[in-house]
Amino acid sequence: EKGGYDSFMLKEIHEQPQAVRDTMGARIDENNKRVILPELKMSDVELATYDRIYIVACGTSMHAGLVGKDVIEKWTRVPVEVAVASEFRYRDPIYTDKTLMIVISQSGETADTLAALREAKKSNVKVLAITNVVGSSVAREADEVIFTWAGPEVAVASTKAYTSQVVALYLFSLYLAQVKGTMAAVEIAEVVEHLSEIPGKIASMLENDDQIRRFAEGTKEVSSLFFIGRSLDYAVSLEGSLKLKEISYIHSEAYPAGELKHGTLALIEDNVPVVALATQPDIYEKTVSNIVEVKARGAHVLGFATEGNHDLAKSVDEVIYMPATLPMLTPILTVIPLQLLAYYASVARGLDVDKPRNLAKSVTVE
Ligand code: F6R
Repeated sequence: EKGGYDSFMLKEIHEQPQAVRDTMGARIDENNKRVILPELKMSDVELATYDRIYIVACGTSMHAGLVGKDVIEKWTRVPVEVAVASEFRYRDPIYTDKTLMIVISQSGETADTLAALREAKKSNVKVLAITNVVGSSVAREADEVIFTWAGPEVAVASTKAYTSQVVALYLFSLYLAQVKGTMAAVEIAEVVEHLSEIPGKIASMLENDDQIRRFAEGTKEVSSLFFIGRSLDYAVSLEGSLKLKEISYIHSEAYPAGELKHGTLALIEDNVPVVALATQPDIYEKTVSNIVEVKARGAHVLGFATEGNHDLAKSVDEVIYMPATLPMLTPILTVIPLQLLAYYASVARGLDVDKPRNLAKSVTVE
């Protein structure tokens, strides 16, 4: 059942090219290089009226939502707020008749996410769900559903569900951009073109995991590890940090690179490992200056850069190179070595990768 892998998690990590491909599937119109979402019941006219979006979810699904926020705002100029479901459900959110709520849940059964959905529906807010389980409570109760086609996810630590959720959010964002007319057809075609190359790029990263495995094995005695990055790199850092804590039990924090000097930099001393994501060209130089700051305090820095970058190697101890793609699409690639880092760190410590202590796959309690 583990298909020759030692754990479900490793199997599911390796299923990502397929999960991503299946989630894009028939939603990409290859001839016209645009997105189609036939599952949406509402009309394009209605969809175009929404001028504000809440994304509500927990844990890893919330982290996918953070990527979605940046992408939706960039491509459609609709303001998006991302909220943790256990907070959102007890708030008094500001809804208008042009507010759309997106809930994201792999299982479709997470208690707090479901409660937030029900609260929104009570206020007559339209709810669109992104979920992996057909027939789940979230799928049944939401007004609209976009399924991720990741297949069953067994390991407690979510991997292929995350990348599939991120793909679903890209597709939704492009579709919204089409109906709102906020992107030119050629721009959409360019993104679609790059999206279809993503599964192959994930596969090549999975084949070349020696470097991240060695780095992970070097964390055996480490008590704390930091992730830094800006914008989309920060969103992915949060996910990398959660994954590491969850299955390797190493204390870790993800920080927006520019925020370090406001306190957390005090924790950086000799040999503290820092994973620094520097894949976003618009703020690349700014991130490098933060990397220089942690290096000066003795940190051991593993940098992530885009293939062809000959600069980052000068400022860090080692570099992992990401296949080139559009900056907005990098999260779906950057997360792969971070998942592997958590996985190999957990294995190196002899832990149960698939069933970390204290955690359950589906959180149906509040
Ligand atoms: C972390 C993880 C959890 C889930 C969270 C939400 O690896 O799996 O953080 O993402 O419990 O679960 P779903 O997406 O089923 O609502």
